[in-house]
Amino acid sequence: TALRSFIEGMPKTELHLHIEGTLEPELMFALAQRNNIKLPYDSVEALRAAYDFSDLQSFLDLYYAGANVLQTEQDFYDMTAAYIKRAQADQVRHAEIFFDPQTHTERGISIATVFAGIAGALRDARRTDGFGGAMIMSFLRHLSEEEAFDTLEQALPLRDQYQDLWNGIGLDSSERGNPPEKFQRVFARCKALGFHLVAHAGEEGPPEYVIGALDLLHVERIDHGVRSEEDPALMQRLAQQRIPLTVCPLSNLKLCVVKDMAQHNLARLLDAGLAVTVNSDDPAYFGGYMTANYLAVAEALTMSREQVLTVARNGIEACFLNDEEKATLM
Ligand code: HPA
Ligand code: ZN
Repeated sequence: TALRSFIEGMPKTELHLHIEGTLEPELMFALAQRNNIKLPYDSVEALRAAYDFSDLQSFLDLYYAGANVLQTEQDFYDMTAAYIKRAQADQVRHAEIFFDPQTHTERGISIATVFAGIAGALRDARRTDGFGGAMIMSFLRHLSEEEAFDTLEQALPLRDQYQDLWNGIGLDSSERGNPPEKFQRVFARCKALGFHLVAHAGEEGPPEYVIGALDLLHVERIDHGVRSEEDPALMQRLAQQRIPLTVCPLSNLKLCVVKDMAQHNLARLLDAGLAVTVNSDDPAYFGGYMTANYLAVAEALTMSREQVLTVARNGIEACFLNDEEKATLM
């Protein structure tokens, strides 16, 4: 259709993407073999068939298990390079990428290995294709704030070496029972250090977690945030302050945040004046990259070309580039 080709060709930004969530089953098996790791699945097909989630936690269990195949700098490089190639096919020009060092340091992988592999691929893509990248180091909220501080201390000596990429701090993993205030002190430290701040909130958790992320963590964007709709005063504030929501339609569907795509609230959030963006979250697990996410939601909600373009423009407005750099993405 005309809308399909419009979406396919439209330049895009990606602001909510977990690099560990781009590990496709084929690459997972290849890395398992390279590293002599035995996966609890016989085949790529059997692994894919297990991607049938009932909620966030049921996904996270497989996502953390899958990350075990990542051992060397080359593994992180290969995963990131594969993502960039796939993103470029979807006309993504700039991606601000989450990574979860704790998923790896807990297994004895050094944080330097994680940084080097991801940054290596982003720098090569910048040099050869002009692909824009940034790295947002995310804390796992099911772990303690002390462990987050620990991770920050391990990463800070690398800051100079990666200052061209590492510009942000995020918060992800199991939302319910791990409210933003649990990380108030470590986010204050990251703010003082001059990092951009974002946090997952209002995916499965209540609107209060979105308010907490804004008022206690001082984040600049909310990752997901779809449950903000339950609080009219919060909706007004998000619209007035143009606080971006990085919404992930296929993720919301696969993790049963919405029953079917026709019930997704993205168009309502947009109509209410919020700075809504579309993103892919963990595309290897949720069945689609950027174009698929735009298409799924635009078709289910019969969005107009103008609405789709507004979402894409919101993505440029919301990214952590200066105005001059943003202008090159228009
Ligand atoms: N929510 C919380 N944690 C995550 C997600 C998500 O969508 N993806 C990867 N880690
Ligand atoms: Zn996410």
